[in-house]
Amino acid sequence: MIEAEIFDRAQEIAQTYSLSSLRSLLSFDKKASTGNRFFACTREGKPAVLKLGGLTTRSLDEIAGNNSAYAKMAQLGLSDYSPLLVAGEDFQILDFLEYDFSDMVRLAEEPVEVYKIVRNHLRNIYFKTMMEDRNTALIFLRKVFGDEPQRRYLEQYLCSNGLIRAVDVELLSSVQARFEKVAPKYVTFTAGGELQPEHLRFSSRQSSQPKIIDPREPLAGNPIIEVAILSELFGLYDFKNAKEGKDIMYGLINELGATMQMTQAQVQCLIALGKIRQGTLSARFRFKENPLQAKEQADKVVKSMEEIINANL
Ligand SMILES: Nc1ncnc2c1ncn2[C@@H]1O[C@H](COP(=O)(O)OP(=O)(O)O)[C@@H](O)[C@H]1O
Ligand SMILES: [Mg+2]
Repeated sequence: MIEAEIFDRAQEIAQTYSLSSLRSLLSFDKKASTGNRFFACTREGKPAVLKLGGLTTRSLDEIAGNNSAYAKMAQLGLSDYSPLLVAGEDFQILDFLEYDFSDMVRLAEEPVEVYKIVRNHLRNIYFKTMMEDRNTALIFLRKVFGDEPQRRYLEQYLCSNGLIRAVDVELLSSVQARFEKVAPKYVTFTAGGELQPEHLRFSSRQSSQPKIIDPREPLAGNPIIEVAILSELFGLYDFKNAKEGKDIMYGLINELGATMQMTQAQVQCLIALGKIRQGTLSARFRFKENPLQAKEQADKVVKSMEEIINANL
Protein backbone atom coordinates (compact mmCIF):
# COMPACT_ATOMS: atom_id res chain seq x y z
CA MET A 1 0.00 0.00 0.00
CA ILE A 2 1.17 3.54 -0.63
CA GLU A 3 0.56 6.58 1.56
CA ALA A 4 -2.32 7.85 -0.61
CA GLU A 5 -4.22 4.56 -0.20
CA ILE A 6 -3.97 4.47 3.58
CA PHE A 7 -6.89 6.80 4.25
CA ASP A 8 -9.09 4.84 1.81
CA ARG A 9 -8.32 1.64 3.69
CA ALA A 10 -9.07 3.37 7.01
CA GLN A 11 -12.42 4.54 5.64
CA GLU A 12 -13.24 1.07 4.40
CA ILE A 13 -12.58 -0.36 7.90
CA ALA A 14 -14.59 2.48 9.47
CA GLN A 15 -17.56 1.57 7.29
CA THR A 16 -17.36 -2.16 8.04
CA TYR A 17 -17.07 -1.68 11.80
CA SER A 18 -19.38 1.35 12.19
CA LEU A 19 -16.68 3.81 13.22
CA SER A 20 -17.57 7.48 12.97
CA SER A 21 -15.65 10.79 13.00
CA LEU A 22 -12.50 9.26 11.50
CA ARG A 23 -9.46 11.55 11.53
CA SER A 24 -5.67 11.13 11.29
CA LEU A 25 -3.56 11.21 14.45
CA LEU A 26 -0.23 12.51 13.21
CA SER A 27 1.25 12.79 16.68
CA PHE A 28 0.74 9.05 17.18
CA ASP A 29 2.20 8.26 13.75
CA LYS A 30 5.38 10.07 14.73
CA LYS A 31 5.81 7.99 17.87
CA ALA A 32 5.13 4.72 16.10
CA SER A 33 8.38 2.97 15.47
CA THR A 34 7.33 0.88 12.54
CA GLY A 35 5.34 2.88 10.01
CA ASN A 36 1.89 2.23 11.43
CA ARG A 37 -0.78 4.90 10.94
CA PHE A 38 -3.26 5.96 13.60
CA PHE A 39 -6.78 7.39 13.37
CA ALA A 40 -9.06 8.69 16.07
CA CYS A 41 -12.68 7.62 15.77
CA THR A 42 -15.82 6.88 17.73
CA ARG A 43 -17.22 3.40 18.15
CA GLU A 44 -20.55 2.82 19.87
CA GLY A 45 -20.34 6.32 21.29
CA LYS A 46 -16.90 5.79 22.82
CA PRO A 47 -13.55 7.21 21.68
CA ALA A 48 -11.45 4.62 19.88
CA VAL A 49 -8.23 4.41 17.90
CA LEU A 50 -7.66 2.63 14.61
CA LYS A 51 -4.07 1.37 14.31
CA LEU A 52 -3.41 0.53 10.68
CA GLY A 53 -0.46 -1.28 9.11
CA GLY A 54 0.26 -1.87 5.46
CA LEU A 55 2.69 0.85 4.46
CA THR A 56 5.63 -1.47 5.14
CA THR A 57 5.99 -5.22 5.73
CA ARG A 58 7.43 -4.39 9.13
CA SER A 59 4.21 -2.58 10.09
CA LEU A 60 2.17 -5.65 9.12
CA ASP A 61 4.48 -7.89 11.20
CA GLU A 62 4.01 -5.51 14.08
CA ILE A 63 0.21 -5.68 13.79
CA ALA A 64 0.38 -9.49 13.64
CA GLY A 65 2.66 -9.51 16.71
CA ASN A 66 0.27 -7.28 18.67
CA ASN A 67 -2.67 -9.46 17.62
CA SER A 68 -1.10 -12.64 18.89
CA ALA A 69 -0.10 -10.90 22.12
CA TYR A 70 -3.68 -9.72 22.68
CA ALA A 71 -4.95 -13.24 21.93
CA LYS A 72 -2.51 -14.63 24.49
CA MET A 73 -3.69 -12.08 27.04
CA ALA A 74 -7.31 -13.16 26.52
CA GLN A 75 -6.31 -16.79 26.88
CA LEU A 76 -4.49 -16.05 30.16
CA GLY A 77 -7.49 -14.21 31.63
CA LEU A 78 -5.89 -10.78 31.19
CA SER A 79 -8.61 -9.22 29.02
CA ASP A 80 -9.09 -6.39 31.53
CA TYR A 81 -5.59 -5.23 30.58
CA SER A 82 -6.20 -5.40 26.84
CA PRO A 83 -7.45 -2.36 24.88
CA LEU A 84 -8.36 -4.51 21.88
CA LEU A 85 -11.87 -4.08 20.45
CA VAL A 86 -11.45 -5.58 16.97
CA ALA A 87 -8.43 -7.31 15.41
CA GLY A 88 -7.86 -7.60 11.67
CA GLU A 89 -4.96 -8.75 9.54
CA ASP A 90 -3.73 -5.22 8.90
CA PHE A 91 -5.35 -3.28 11.75
CA GLN A 92 -6.59 -3.08 15.32
CA ILE A 93 -9.44 -1.05 16.75
CA LEU A 94 -8.49 -0.11 20.32
CA ASP A 95 -9.91 1.81 23.25
CA PHE A 96 -8.62 5.37 23.19
CA LEU A 97 -6.35 5.61 26.24
CA GLU A 98 -5.48 9.24 26.58
CA TYR A 99 -3.23 9.14 29.65
CA ASP A 100 -0.10 7.11 30.14
CA PHE A 101 1.56 6.25 33.45
CA SER A 102 3.65 9.44 33.45
CA ASP A 103 0.60 11.64 32.76
CA MET A 104 -1.24 9.96 35.63
CA VAL A 105 1.65 10.59 38.05
CA ARG A 106 2.03 14.18 36.85
CA LEU A 107 -1.67 15.01 37.14
CA ALA A 108 -2.39 13.15 40.38
CA GLU A 109 -2.91 14.94 43.67
CA GLU A 110 -1.38 11.91 45.34
CA PRO A 111 1.19 10.45 42.93
CA VAL A 112 2.09 7.69 45.37
CA GLU A 113 -1.41 6.27 44.91
CA VAL A 114 -0.79 5.94 41.17
CA TYR A 115 2.37 3.93 41.78
CA LYS A 116 0.42 1.68 44.15
CA ILE A 117 -2.38 1.16 41.62
CA VAL A 118 0.12 0.17 38.94
CA ARG A 119 2.04 -2.04 41.37
CA ASN A 120 -1.17 -3.83 42.37
CA HIS A 121 -2.13 -4.47 38.76
CA LEU A 122 1.33 -5.71 37.84
CA ARG A 123 1.25 -7.99 40.87
CA ASN A 124 -2.11 -9.33 39.72
CA ILE A 125 -0.84 -9.95 36.16
CA TYR A 126 2.36 -11.69 37.26
CA PHE A 127 0.87 -13.85 40.02
CA LYS A 128 -2.08 -14.86 37.87
CA THR A 129 0.17 -16.08 35.06
CA MET A 130 3.10 -17.53 37.03
CA MET A 131 4.07 -21.04 36.06
CA GLU A 132 6.98 -23.40 36.35
CA ASP A 133 8.95 -23.44 33.09
CA ARG A 134 12.68 -23.10 33.52
CA ASN A 135 13.38 -23.66 29.87
CA THR A 136 11.29 -20.66 28.84
CA ALA A 137 12.90 -18.60 31.62
CA LEU A 138 16.27 -19.35 30.05
CA ILE A 139 15.10 -18.78 26.47
CA PHE A 140 13.74 -15.38 27.52
CA LEU A 141 17.14 -14.26 28.88
CA ARG A 142 18.95 -15.55 25.80
CA LYS A 143 16.51 -13.78 23.50
CA VAL A 144 16.37 -10.39 25.21
CA PHE A 145 20.09 -10.29 26.04
CA GLY A 146 21.42 -12.27 23.10
CA ASP A 147 24.01 -10.98 20.65
CA GLU A 148 21.07 -9.77 18.61
CA PRO A 149 20.04 -7.19 19.72
CA GLN A 150 22.01 -6.58 22.94
CA ARG A 151 25.56 -7.00 21.66
CA ARG A 152 24.74 -5.16 18.47
CA TYR A 153 23.30 -2.23 20.46
CA LEU A 154 26.40 -2.12 22.67
CA GLU A 155 28.62 -2.10 19.61
CA GLN A 156 26.71 0.12 17.21
CA TYR A 157 25.27 2.69 19.55
CA LEU A 158 27.28 2.76 22.77
CA CYS A 159 30.79 1.77 21.74
CA SER A 160 30.91 3.51 18.37
CA ASN A 161 29.73 6.73 20.05
CA GLY A 162 32.52 6.43 22.60
CA LEU A 163 30.16 5.87 25.55
CA ILE A 164 31.75 2.52 26.43
CA ARG A 165 34.98 0.77 25.43
CA ALA A 166 35.41 -2.29 23.20
CA VAL A 167 36.48 -4.31 26.28
CA ASP A 168 33.20 -3.37 27.92
CA VAL A 169 31.28 -4.87 25.00
CA GLU A 170 33.16 -8.13 25.60
CA LEU A 171 31.69 -8.34 29.13
CA LEU A 172 28.41 -9.39 27.57
CA SER A 173 29.67 -12.93 26.81
CA SER A 174 30.55 -13.41 30.48
CA VAL A 175 27.10 -12.12 31.45
CA GLN A 176 25.46 -14.57 29.03
CA ALA A 177 27.55 -17.40 30.48
CA ARG A 178 25.78 -16.87 33.82
CA PHE A 179 22.22 -17.22 32.50
CA GLU A 180 22.01 -20.90 33.55
CA LYS A 181 22.43 -19.76 37.13
CA VAL A 182 20.43 -16.54 36.90
CA ALA A 183 17.28 -18.04 35.31
CA PRO A 184 14.65 -18.93 37.91
CA LYS A 185 12.30 -21.92 37.73
CA TYR A 186 9.25 -19.80 36.96
CA VAL A 187 8.00 -17.50 34.23
CA THR A 188 5.08 -15.10 34.04
CA PHE A 189 3.38 -13.13 31.30
CA THR A 190 5.60 -10.35 29.94
CA ALA A 191 4.72 -7.90 27.18
CA GLY A 192 8.02 -7.97 25.31
CA GLY A 193 10.37 -7.71 28.28
CA GLU A 194 10.58 -3.96 27.94
CA LEU A 195 7.75 -2.33 29.83
CA GLN A 196 7.83 1.46 29.60
CA PRO A 197 5.52 4.00 31.24
CA GLU A 198 3.93 4.86 27.91
CA HIS A 199 2.82 1.27 27.39
CA LEU A 200 0.63 1.44 30.52
CA ARG A 201 -2.29 3.68 29.66
CA PHE A 202 -5.60 4.79 31.18
CA SER A 203 -8.80 5.95 29.51
CA SER A 204 -9.37 8.81 31.99
CA ARG A 205 -7.72 10.50 34.95
CA GLN A 206 -10.23 8.82 37.24
CA SER A 207 -9.58 5.37 35.88
CA SER A 208 -7.76 2.82 38.01
CA GLN A 209 -7.55 0.23 35.25
CA PRO A 210 -4.30 0.41 33.25
CA LYS A 211 -4.18 -1.31 29.88
CA ILE A 212 -1.12 -2.49 28.00
CA ILE A 213 -0.61 -1.14 24.48
CA ASP A 214 1.75 -2.46 21.83
CA PRO A 215 2.43 -5.83 23.52
CA ARG A 216 4.71 -8.24 21.65
CA GLU A 217 6.90 -11.33 21.93
CA PRO A 218 8.37 -12.63 24.16
CA LEU A 219 5.08 -13.16 25.99
CA ALA A 220 6.53 -15.30 28.77
CA GLY A 221 9.61 -14.40 30.73
CA ASN A 222 10.90 -12.68 33.81
CA PRO A 223 8.77 -9.99 35.45
CA ILE A 224 11.57 -8.65 37.69
CA ILE A 225 13.41 -7.36 34.63
CA GLU A 226 10.29 -5.48 33.48
CA VAL A 227 9.61 -3.94 36.88
CA ALA A 228 13.27 -2.92 37.22
CA ILE A 229 13.18 -1.23 33.79
CA LEU A 230 10.02 0.65 34.71
CA SER A 231 11.47 1.76 38.07
CA GLU A 232 14.69 3.07 36.50
CA LEU A 233 12.63 5.27 34.22
CA PHE A 234 10.85 7.06 37.11
CA GLY A 235 14.09 8.81 37.97
CA LEU A 236 15.24 9.38 34.42
CA TYR A 237 11.87 10.89 33.42
CA ASP A 238 11.71 13.07 36.55
CA PHE A 239 8.49 11.54 37.80
CA LYS A 240 7.03 13.11 40.93
CA ASN A 241 7.83 11.03 44.02
CA ALA A 242 10.17 8.89 41.91
CA LYS A 243 11.99 7.56 44.97
CA GLU A 244 8.76 6.40 46.67
CA GLY A 245 7.61 4.95 43.35
CA LYS A 246 10.80 2.95 43.06
CA ASP A 247 10.48 1.66 46.63
CA ILE A 248 6.90 0.56 45.93
CA MET A 249 8.00 -1.33 42.80
CA TYR A 250 10.98 -2.89 44.58
CA GLY A 251 8.53 -4.23 47.18
CA LEU A 252 6.89 -6.12 44.32
CA ILE A 253 10.29 -7.32 43.07
CA ASN A 254 11.02 -8.83 46.48
CA GLU A 255 7.61 -10.53 46.60
CA LEU A 256 8.20 -11.98 43.15
CA GLY A 257 11.68 -13.16 44.08
CA ALA A 258 10.37 -14.97 47.16
CA THR A 259 7.40 -16.56 45.39
CA MET A 260 9.54 -17.65 42.44
CA GLN A 261 11.96 -19.27 44.90
CA MET A 262 14.89 -17.14 43.87
CA THR A 263 17.96 -16.36 45.92
CA GLN A 264 18.77 -12.75 46.76
CA ALA A 265 21.74 -12.94 44.36
CA GLN A 266 19.47 -14.09 41.52
CA VAL A 267 17.06 -11.23 42.23
CA GLN A 268 19.94 -8.74 42.16
CA CYS A 269 21.16 -10.13 38.83
CA LEU A 270 17.71 -9.80 37.28
CA ILE A 271 17.49 -6.20 38.50
CA ALA A 272 20.93 -5.64 36.95
CA LEU A 273 19.66 -7.11 33.66
CA GLY A 274 16.77 -4.64 33.75
CA LYS A 275 19.27 -1.82 34.22
CA ILE A 276 21.35 -3.11 31.31
CA ARG A 277 18.37 -3.19 28.96
CA GLN A 278 16.98 0.18 30.03
CA GLY A 279 20.42 1.82 30.23
CA THR A 280 21.35 0.63 26.75
CA LEU A 281 18.14 1.90 25.18
CA SER A 282 18.21 5.21 27.05
CA ALA A 283 21.87 5.82 26.17
CA ARG A 284 21.11 5.03 22.54
CA PHE A 285 18.16 7.39 22.28
CA ARG A 286 19.59 10.18 24.44
CA PHE A 287 23.03 10.38 22.91
CA LYS A 288 22.27 13.34 20.66
CA GLU A 289 20.05 15.45 22.90
CA ASN A 290 21.76 14.74 26.23
CA PRO A 291 25.25 13.21 25.94
CA LEU A 292 25.98 13.58 29.65
CA GLN A 293 22.92 11.62 30.63
CA ALA A 294 23.69 9.08 27.90
CA LYS A 295 27.15 8.58 29.41
CA GLU A 296 25.64 8.07 32.89
CA GLN A 297 23.32 5.42 31.48
CA ALA A 298 26.16 3.72 29.61
CA ASP A 299 28.28 3.65 32.80
CA LYS A 300 25.35 2.01 34.57
CA VAL A 301 25.23 -0.67 31.86
CA VAL A 302 28.90 -1.55 32.37
CA LYS A 303 28.56 -1.52 36.16
CA SER A 304 25.52 -3.80 35.98
CA MET A 305 27.34 -6.25 33.69
CA GLU A 306 30.22 -6.40 36.19
CA GLU A 307 27.76 -6.92 39.03
CA ILE A 308 26.34 -10.01 37.32
CA ILE A 309 29.77 -11.38 36.46
CA ASN A 310 30.91 -11.00 40.09
CA ALA A 311 27.68 -12.19 41.71
CA ASN A 312 27.92 -15.02 44.16
CA LEU A 313 25.40 -17.31 42.49
N1 LIG B 1 -5.06 2.97 22.12
C1 LIG B 1 -4.28 4.05 22.25
N2 LIG B 1 -4.69 5.11 22.99
C2 LIG B 1 -3.91 6.22 23.12
N3 LIG B 1 -2.70 6.35 22.54
C3 LIG B 1 -2.24 5.34 21.80
C4 LIG B 1 -2.99 4.14 21.61
N4 LIG B 1 -2.28 3.33 20.81
C5 LIG B 1 -1.15 3.98 20.52
N5 LIG B 1 -1.10 5.19 21.10
C6 LIG B 1 -0.02 6.21 20.96
O1 LIG B 1 0.67 5.99 19.74
C7 LIG B 1 2.04 5.65 19.97
C8 LIG B 1 2.50 4.57 19.02
O2 LIG B 1 1.75 3.40 19.21
P1 LIG B 1 2.38 1.93 19.17
O3 LIG B 1 1.26 0.97 19.30
O4 LIG B 1 3.49 1.85 20.16
O5 LIG B 1 2.96 1.89 17.67
P2 LIG B 1 4.11 0.92 17.07
O6 LIG B 1 3.61 -0.47 17.27
O7 LIG B 1 4.20 1.27 15.64
O8 LIG B 1 5.35 1.19 17.86
C9 LIG B 1 2.06 5.20 21.43
O9 LIG B 1 3.31 5.43 22.02
C10 LIG B 1 1.00 6.07 22.06
O10 LIG B 1 1.52 7.35 22.35
MG1 LIG C 1 5.55 1.08 20.02
